[in-house]
Amino acid sequence: MSTVPVQPWVGLSANERLPSDETVFPITWYAVAWSRELKDKPHKRRLLGEDIVIYRDHSGHVRALTAYCAHRGADLSLGRCTAAGLTCAYHGWTFAEDGECVRIPAHPDRPIPDFAKMRAYKAQERAGLIWVYPAAVSAGQAPPELVLYPELEDGRFTLSPYDQRWQAHLTRVVESVLDVAHLAFVHKRTIGRRVPEAITRMQFDVPDTNSIVIENGGGLLHYQFPHQWLLKPSKATGSQFINYVTFTPVDRQETIIYGYAGRTFARSIPGLNAIFSRYSRKILTEDKTIVESQHPRPIPEALQMEAHVPADAPQVRFRQRWFEFLSNDAEPKVILK
Ligand code: FES
Ligand SMILES: [Fe+2]
Repeated sequence: MSTVPVQPWVGLSANERLPSDETVFPITWYAVAWSRELKDKPHKRRLLGEDIVIYRDHSGHVRALTAYCAHRGADLSLGRCTAAGLTCAYHGWTFAEDGECVRIPAHPDRPIPDFAKMRAYKAQERAGLIWVYPAAVSAGQAPPELVLYPELEDGRFTLSPYDQRWQAHLTRVVESVLDVAHLAFVHKRTIGRRVPEAITRMQFDVPDTNSIVIENGGGLLHYQFPHQWLLKPSKATGSQFINYVTFTPVDRQETIIYGYAGRTFARSIPGLNAIFSRYSRKILTEDKTIVESQHPRPIPEALQMEAHVPADAPQVRFRQRWFEFLSNDAEPKVILK
């Protein structure tokens, strides 16, 4: 067992050992809110066991800082956005987007001490979501690009948003969308109504290290490690329906799913967005009960620790990729407290 102090959002060095695999998560861009939720008031979110505050600066750009003020620990989401940055509600200290304190009203004529700063994270807004990169990025450097499926930013699609919070570990949530054999059982009243129990014709491919593609019936499921998934028709047709989800680990027990049901048809029928959002949430609710029941909470630490049959092949591939991630020091990771 490790004797290294465990810090949130700190990458592992080669000689550190993992205290427990269930506390280790990939560092990548995670969705933390819908764009439409973030107006002129800051909001608190929890990502990878850390509370953060997100806000819009005066030019409308999204920003992210750790949530509790460097002065006396007040919740910065109670504060307000000003031209100079985010101003704390308690004593009015103002923090700029890089986390530096730029104003201490009690001492306007004194220099601002070095310790008056917050940790800042990169944030961006794409496809109607606010994404945060949960690691320090050195000055002058940029985090990796956020790669999204083109359908999400393709104006031909109308996207109906939905989300849900599950008391489940990220790995179990990912596996639920790679599972074909559950459709006829868990979703027997919805999307699995006409799906046979027997899995005889599933095609499954691993086009690159980070992708899993499953062709099942008329649908093509594409999973992008670690946290994005898209369902689209396997053959290009005139009108298209897609479904997208991305997973955000709140901590090791909780995951938020942000999703879109997208369509290129019937785009302006009133009320249809709400119907698609509601139906997608209903399907998620069917999965939620099952996935929240799974033990152990994360996937087990070795393949032989659960039973696998051919229908589980995509999940087995995910487990192999997850185990590679856990053991590869070069892949950015975070250990939760
Ligand atoms: S606690 Fe934030 S300014 Fe004092
Ligand atoms: Fe499901």
